[in-house]
Amino acid sequence: MKKIILLSAAALAIVGCKAPQLGKASIDKVLKAMTLEEKVHFVIGTGMAGMDDGASATVGATQKIVPGAAGTTYPIERLGIPSIVLADGPAGLRIDPIREGDANTYYCTHFPIGTLLASTWNQELVESVGKAMGEEVHEYGADVYLAPALNIHRNPLNGRNFEYYSEDPVVAGKTAAAYVRGVQSNDVGTSIKHFAYNNQETNRTGNNAVISPRAQREIYLKGFEITVKESDPWTVMSSYNKINGTYTSQSRDLITTVLRDEWGFKGLVMTDWYGGDDGAAQIAAGNDMLQPGTQLQYDQIMAALNAGTLTEEELDVCVRRCLELVARSPKVKKYAYSNKPDLTAHAAVTRQSALEGMVLLENNGVLPLKDVKNVAVFGCTSFDFVAGGTGSGNVNRAYTVSLLDGLKNAGFNVDESMKDACLQHIADEAAAFKASLPDNQLSAFYPVPRPTELIPNPKDLAAMVRANDVAIITFGRNSGEFFDRTSADFVLSAQERKLLDTVTRAFHAVRKKVVVVLNIGGVIETASWKSVPDAILLAWQAGQEGGNSVTDILTGAKSPSGKLPMTFPVNLMDAASSANFPIDATDEVYFMNRREDVGKKDVDVTKYEEGIYVGYRWFDKQNLKVSYPFGYGLSYTTFEYSAPAVANDGKTVTAKVTVKNTGSVAGKEAVQLYVSAPAGTLDKPVKELKAYAKTKELAPGESQELTLTFPTSELASFDEAASAWKVDAGTYTFLFGASSRDIRCTATADAEAAETPTHTVLLMQ
Ligand code: BGC
Repeated sequence: MKKIILLSAAALAIVGCKAPQLGKASIDKVLKAMTLEEKVHFVIGTGMAGMDDGASATVGATQKIVPGAAGTTYPIERLGIPSIVLADGPAGLRIDPIREGDANTYYCTHFPIGTLLASTWNQELVESVGKAMGEEVHEYGADVYLAPALNIHRNPLNGRNFEYYSEDPVVAGKTAAAYVRGVQSNDVGTSIKHFAYNNQETNRTGNNAVISPRAQREIYLKGFEITVKESDPWTVMSSYNKINGTYTSQSRDLITTVLRDEWGFKGLVMTDWYGGDDGAAQIAAGNDMLQPGTQLQYDQIMAALNAGTLTEEELDVCVRRCLELVARSPKVKKYAYSNKPDLTAHAAVTRQSALEGMVLLENNGVLPLKDVKNVAVFGCTSFDFVAGGTGSGNVNRAYTVSLLDGLKNAGFNVDESMKDACLQHIADEAAAFKASLPDNQLSAFYPVPRPTELIPNPKDLAAMVRANDVAIITFGRNSGEFFDRTSADFVLSAQERKLLDTVTRAFHAVRKKVVVVLNIGGVIETASWKSVPDAILLAWQAGQEGGNSVTDILTGAKSPSGKLPMTFPVNLMDAASSANFPIDATDEVYFMNRREDVGKKDVDVTKYEEGIYVGYRWFDKQNLKVSYPFGYGLSYTTFEYSAPAVANDGKTVTAKVTVKNTGSVAGKEAVQLYVSAPAGTLDKPVKELKAYAKTKELAPGESQELTLTFPTSELASFDEAASAWKVDAGTYTFLFGASSRDIRCTATADAEAAETPTHTVLLMQ
C-alpha cells in the first residue's frame, strides 16, 4: 500500500490506475496527478495558429475547435482536461465566419462599440447587450470571452478608445460590471482587460507608464476594482505595458496584492497575447496563464524551477486556478453548442441599444425630421458605415446597415447621386493606402483611413438642393488596435470642411436644413464648425444595424438619450495628458511605432504628469472652456429636477431626486451624481462622479424618483503618504447634474473621518 502511494502520477497511469478526471475528481486530486511538465504546459496556451511559436505539439488547436478564436488552453486528455476556447471581444464575438469545406456560416453580431455602450448611461441595457453577446459565445463553442475592455480614455488619440468606455472610472467600472453580469449569465466567462494602464498603442508592448500611486488608485485601477467587486468576472487579462518599470503581468503588487488580497478577486489572470518578457516572473506574480503560449515561456519557467528561483508550490497556485477555470467551462460540462445563436433577435438588441447611446450634440429644431420625404446624403461614409474599429475588436458580421440603407428602410426617398462615385472613391483610396504601406507591414491590421471626401459639382449640387427637403452629411473615422490616432485625424480635413460649408451654404440659401452625423470611434474637434449645420448627431460606431439606429433617432421614433462619457475639448492640447502622449509619433501611420521613435519621450516612457486630473477633473480645475462637457447630451424633450435629498448612514450614501418630463415627447434622462468634498488635507477635484442612473421612458408630464447609492467609503481619496484611503470629516455637497457643467440641484450630507490602509504602495521608480 505504502509503495503505491509513493508511485508518481505518470507511473500510476502506466500500472493502469485510472487517473482522476477533471469535473469528476476534486481539483486537489487532479492537481496531484499532474507531472511537472504537464503543469508547465498547462499554464501556457497552445500557441497561435499560423505562428511558429508553439509550446507543444498542439499548436493550431484553436483552429480545430473554433476557427478564428484567439487562443486555447492546453489539453491533458488522460486527466479529462479539455482545451477551452478564448475568443475576442468586445463588440461581439470574433471568430472566422467561413470554414473550409463547410457550407454553413458563422457570422456574429457586431454590437455597438464600447464607447457607445457607455454613452447609454444605462446599466440594465448594457447587461442585456452582454447577455446577447454571451449567448453567441456559448452557442459558437467558446468558453471565455476576451472582453470587456475598460481602460481609461486618458487622451482622445488613443487608438483603442473605441473599445473602452470613459474618462471616468465610475462610468468605466459600472458599464463593465453590467456587461460582465450579462455575458456570464450564459455560463461562459469574461476577461476584463487590459489590467492596467494600457492607455496608448504606440510601443504598447514596451511602454513604461509612470503613474503616481494616487492616480493609479483613483483613476486607472478604480474601474477594475468596481468591476471585480460588482460582477465577479471569471478572468482578468493583464496588459502589455509596464507600470513604474515592471511589466504589469510580472507585477505581484498589482496581480496578487491589489487584485486578489485587496479586492478579493477569485478568478484567473491571463496575459495579453505575447505580453511581458519573463514567463517565470509572470507565474511568480500570480499571472496564472500565459497566452497564446511560446516555447520560450515554457523554457523560462522550467529553468526557474530547476534553479529554485520559482517553486513548484508557486506554480501550483497558478495551475490550480487554471484547473478551476477549465472546470467551470462549458467544454468540461460537454455543452452541446448549436452553432446557431439567435442572430435575428440579436440584430434587434444591437439596433435598440445603439440608438440609446447616440448623443445629440446640436439641434436648432430640425430634428426629429418633420414633413421630410426626400433626403440628400453626402459624405462617403453615408454609403459605407463604420460598424466598429479594427484589430482584435473587429467582429466578422454578415452585413452593416449604412445610413443610406437605414433611411430607405424607413421609407425616405434618398437621393443616391453621390453613391457610386463615393463607393468608387472609398475603394480607390483604400487600395492606394494599402499600396503605400511598407512591405514589412501587416496591412490586414490597418484601419484604412476614411476617404478625402467628394464634393458635388455646382450643377449637381443645385439639382440635389432642388429635389430634396433636407441634407445629411456623414463624417466617418476609423481607428484600431496597434495605432494611436494622429492629430490630423482629430480635426476635420480641409476637404471635409469644404463639403460641410458647400452643402450648408447651398441648402441654407433656400431655407433647407443640414444635419451632420458623426460615425466615429473617438473624440474629434468640433468647436470650430459646430455652428455651421443645423444639428449634429454623434452616432459613434454603432454596430451592424447602425444606419437603422441613426434613422430611428432622426425620425423621432425614439428621443435621443445618450450622453458623453468623455469631454470634447476645444483643442487637443487643452487636455492635460496631451503634454505627455505620443501625438504624431505615428503621423505616418506605422505599425505600433516607427523604429526611429524608440527612445523618444512618450514612446518608451510616458509620464502621467497630470496625475488624477484626467478629463473633466482637469477641465474643471482649470476652469477651461470645452466644446462639449462630460455627461452632455440633448434630447427632443426637456426635464426638470426637483426634491434633491441625500443621506449618509456611514455605510451607504443614498441620494434621491425627482425627474419630470416637461416637454412634449417621451424620453429618458441620465442623471449624474457628483460630489464636491470639503476642504481637507488632500488636493481634491472640483467634483467627481460617484453614481448615475437613467429614468425609464417618461411620457410628457410624467415624473420618476431616482435613487442613487454608493458606499460611503467611496468618498475617500488616496493618501500617498499613508498609503491609505482617507475620508475627510465634514460636509459634502452632492450635485445632481444633467451634465458635468449643468448642475440642476444640490443637497448636502456630513461624513465622519475614516481611513482604510492598503497592502502595497505601488511605488513609483
Ligand atoms: C489584444 C487583446 C486581445 C488579444 C487576443 C491582443 O492583441 O490586445 O485585447 O484580446 O490580442 O486577440
